[in-house]
Order: sequence, then C-alpha cells, then structure tokens
Amino acid sequence: DWTPGEVIEEQVERIRQQIGPDAKVLCALSGGVDSAVAAALVHRAVGDRLTCVFVDHGLLRKGEREQVEEDYVKAIGVRLVTVDAREQFLGELAGVTDPEMKRKIIGREFIRVFEQAETQLVAESQEDGGDGIRFLVQGTLYPDVVESGGGSGTANIKSHHNVGGLPEDLKFELVEPLRTLFKDEVRAVGRELGVPEVIVARQPFPGPGLGIRIIGEVTQERLDLLREADAIVREELTAAGLDESIWQCPVVLLADVRSVGVQGDGRTYGHPIVLRPVSSEDAMTADWTRLPYDVTARISNRITNEVDGINRVVLDVTSKPPGTIEWE
Ligand code: XMP
Repeated sequence: DWTPGEVIEEQVERIRQQIGPDAKVLCALSGGVDSAVAAALVHRAVGDRLTCVFVDHGLLRKGEREQVEEDYVKAIGVRLVTVDAREQFLGELAGVTDPEMKRKIIGREFIRVFEQAETQLVAESQEDGGDGIRFLVQGTLYPDVVESGGGSGTANIKSHHNVGGLPEDLKFELVEPLRTLFKDEVRAVGRELGVPEVIVARQPFPGPGLGIRIIGEVTQERLDLLREADAIVREELTAAGLDESIWQCPVVLLADVRSVGVQGDGRTYGHPIVLRPVSSEDAMTADWTRLPYDVTARISNRITNEVDGINRVVLDVTSKPPGTIEWE
C-alpha cells in the first residue's frame, strides 16, 4: 500500500536520476488530468528545467485555456508557453465533414504545431549555452501501457488523438512518471501536488475536442455556439451535484440539421443540440444516464434561451454498444 506522498517521493527521485543535473525537459499540456499531474511531478523534481507547451487549437471548451494558463500555472509554478494555433486549425478544417478526416487533420496539425514550438525552444535553450532539450514528459498511465502492449486485432473504430500520442521518432527520451498508476491514483497524486481541482476532477474529454462534436463542418461560429451550450450543460450538471455519478456528458451540435421553432412571436429555423450523458466504468461500454427530469428541463430552457441559433435540445438514449460515446 502506498500514499500519494510516497509515490511522489519515489517518482521525484527516479525523475532526477533519469534526467540528471543539467538536462532540460519539455511537456505538452492538454488541459487534462494526466499531462497536468505528470508535469507537476517533473516540475517538483527538476523545477524550471521543465517547460510546458499548451496548444490552443480553438477546439477547447469555455474557460479551459484560462484554467491551464492561470489556475494551473499559479498553483504549480511551471513555465508555460501557449501556442495560439486557432486560425491554423480552422483553416485546415475548412470544408471537412468526414469524422475520420477531421481526426487525422487535428492530430497532424497538433504534431506540427508542437514540433514548431519544440524547435524554437530547443534553439533558445542552445543559445543560452545549454545542451538543448533532451527529454519529453508523457502522461502515460498503467492502463495505456497494458492496452498498447496487449491484445492485437481489435478493430480500429476511431483513430484516437492524444496529446500523449506524439510521434515515436521524436528526438527525445521519454519521461513517464505515471506509468504504474491508475486514474484514481493519478488524481490523488495530483491533489497532493496541488493541481487545481477543476483539472484533477476533470471528466474525460477527447483530444480533438469540440471538433468532433460538431456534426458537419467546423467553423468559428459553430464552435462558439457549441462552447456556450457545453458550458451551460456543465454548469447545470455541477450545480445539481451530478458530476460524480456521470462518466461524461458530450454536448453535440447537429450543424447540418435545422428545424422549425417558435420563440417570442417569431418563427425560428435553428440547430438542435444533443445531450449525451453516459455512465461507464472504462468507456469501453456505457449506458445512457437517466438524468433527473428537472435538470434536463433546466438545461433545455437555458440553452434555447441563451444560445442564439439553437432552438431544440434532444437527449441521446443509446447505450454503447451500439452507439459510441462521442458522435464522431
Ligand atoms: P467513444 O466515442 O469511442 O469514446 O465511445 C470512448 C472514450 O474516449 C474518448 N475519446 C477520446 N479521447 N482522444 C482522446 O483522448 C480521442 O481522440 C478520443 N476520442 C474519443 C471519449 O470522450 C470517451 O471518453
């Protein structure tokens, strides 16, 4: 049996041994739990020899960038470089509606942006007389290790994009301080390190972000609509005390569907928003969550009143299988 404090002590020692007294380290923060805790551990071990990179691809949820840039940085004290790549991603996604194509583009652009940042940071560190950056932190967990080493032959349902899934040919040695831990243990370690609760308690959120929750082409306007609706759903679920009983609740914009509505004394012709609350143990299978009616009603009222262009809210009552959790 272990305590978070013991894990931290042991990992800090290992990280120091691996990295040595001088080398520099890079970490891509995703906004999620794993990369945040991994970076906090490495920071505890080597301080400012760690630089974190956060890519804003424009597909983030409301407040997410601020939570990393402000709350996390303040709590942990890491050096952070934010790359604003919103226009680049939007440009590359223009006209694309195929889900797998979207995933591939987002994954590819993410690597491109990260490599640019990396090249620049390595150059800067060499100018400073250092020997560049030799290590890269990855938030790989124990289940990831087992999964990728284990059984083959599972059909590729969706190409998952992870910040952790950077290319293998990187010229870095990997630092993976969470390799022996499960998710709940990572959360405990994160709390002990002072990682903000908004990040530590975060539910799963896909790497391609809101890009795969817009059914249809991804545009700025549609992202803004979805971001607002998503923020309302999260606010209401939290207010109702449901965060812990729900695995996650994707909010999906059916951007190519329109339906007739009436609001005030006028006709509307707007888009539907889908709520997809699910209960699950491991995301491999899931059941749709029976949300209390009053919570559903409040969410529906707020979205249709507050988000211009949305005139209908629908509930996804499909389990997984046959439906996946995300719509794309
Ligand atoms: P599906 O839709 O396949 O989702 O039932 C299963 C779980 O995986 C999450 N998900 C992703 N996570 N990168 C991620 O890091 C991805 O590309 C990705 N796609 C789906 C999804 O939110 C759910 O928790």
